[in-house]
Amino acid sequence: MKTLSSILRRTPLLMLPATARGLSTPPPPPPLAQPGLYPPIIKADPSSWLTSISGAVVVVGAASGIGEQIARFYGAGGRKVYAVSRSIEEKIFEDSSNIVTARVDVTDDDSVAALISQIKEDGEKVSALFNCAVLLNGEKGPERNIKGIDKAFFLDSFAINAYGPINTTRQLLPLLTKGGTVVNLSARVGSIADDEMGGWWSYRSSKTALNHLTKLSHIETNRRGHKATFLSVHPGTTYTPMSSPFTQRRYEAGDESLHSAEFTAEAIAELVAGAGEGHSGGFFDWSGQSLPF
Ligand SMILES: NC(=O)c1ccc[n+]([C@@H]2O[C@H](COP(=O)([O-])OP(=O)(O)OC[C@H]3O[C@@H](n4cnc5c(N)ncnc54)[C@H](OP(=O)(O)O)[C@@H]3O)[C@@H](O)[C@H]2O)c1
Repeated sequence: MKTLSSILRRTPLLMLPATARGLSTPPPPPPLAQPGLYPPIIKADPSSWLTSISGAVVVVGAASGIGEQIARFYGAGGRKVYAVSRSIEEKIFEDSSNIVTARVDVTDDDSVAALISQIKEDGEKVSALFNCAVLLNGEKGPERNIKGIDKAFFLDSFAINAYGPINTTRQLLPLLTKGGTVVNLSARVGSIADDEMGGWWSYRSSKTALNHLTKLSHIETNRRGHKATFLSVHPGTTYTPMSSPFTQRRYEAGDESLHSAEFTAEAIAELVAGAGEGHSGGFFDWSGQSLPF
């Protein structure tokens, strides 16, 4: 039987921008300093998830990289997708009639509220929210040491990487269908237990905060009886505009441990399909392995 994944694997990459291409069969992730607290997620075919739940998919930070490919993945699966970012252009998804774009800044409450109004006006519910917006690179970051910390960059990192996902989650929750999923794109470098290197102060600590926000979302939402799954996910090092200052050489050298954004998007969709109640609130990598907080 043809699965959604196998159909999508045949989608020609040529129509994607050159920066979105990369390697597709990375090796398993490196060993952890400490095991995670949750059982691993056994990945499942995303088409089973698509048939089990209705409602649109919202992808925040969809103008490039992993978010763009997640939007394409669910769009190709026939789902209505709201693909949003601050400066997204309609034309990037002109080949996909079920992907609509909107300009949204996750740090701005009114901007997120306008997206929610649009989804309501369209008469849609939401089956999944993917929070992919990020700040890592800037004039003042990522910082190499404590002396490099700049207040504005630090606060902007927390605004985009931690407040942003919880801002979209809190505003979108009334539209999330029972059994829906919220995926917060996190990073393994946000693990306190796994950190043996230091550095990247703003990014690391904002991702650590994000992991706690994922758990808080799970505890409170499920306690109120609104069944939903909240996951923090480390996508693996993926060749995107965010990572390219650090991955360009590896990409050019054909490093097999570097993910393409298409590979990562599909891996995340397989995690969403495989995740159950016992995973909600947890922190996982792209392979389904539980990561320590
Ligand atoms: N790539 C990796 O190797 C890697 C590794 C670990 C974790 N991750 C995580 O994976 C996620 C996706 O990363 P990526 O590599 O795909 O990054 P990316 O290609 O740089 O994409 C980031 C997106 O965020 C949007 N964005 C930034 N600020 C925003 C804001 N205030 N409001 C709304 N949208 C905003 C950007 O579009 P606009 O400029 O138009 O807003 C862009 O679409 C991030 O959470 C990142 O931390 C990535």
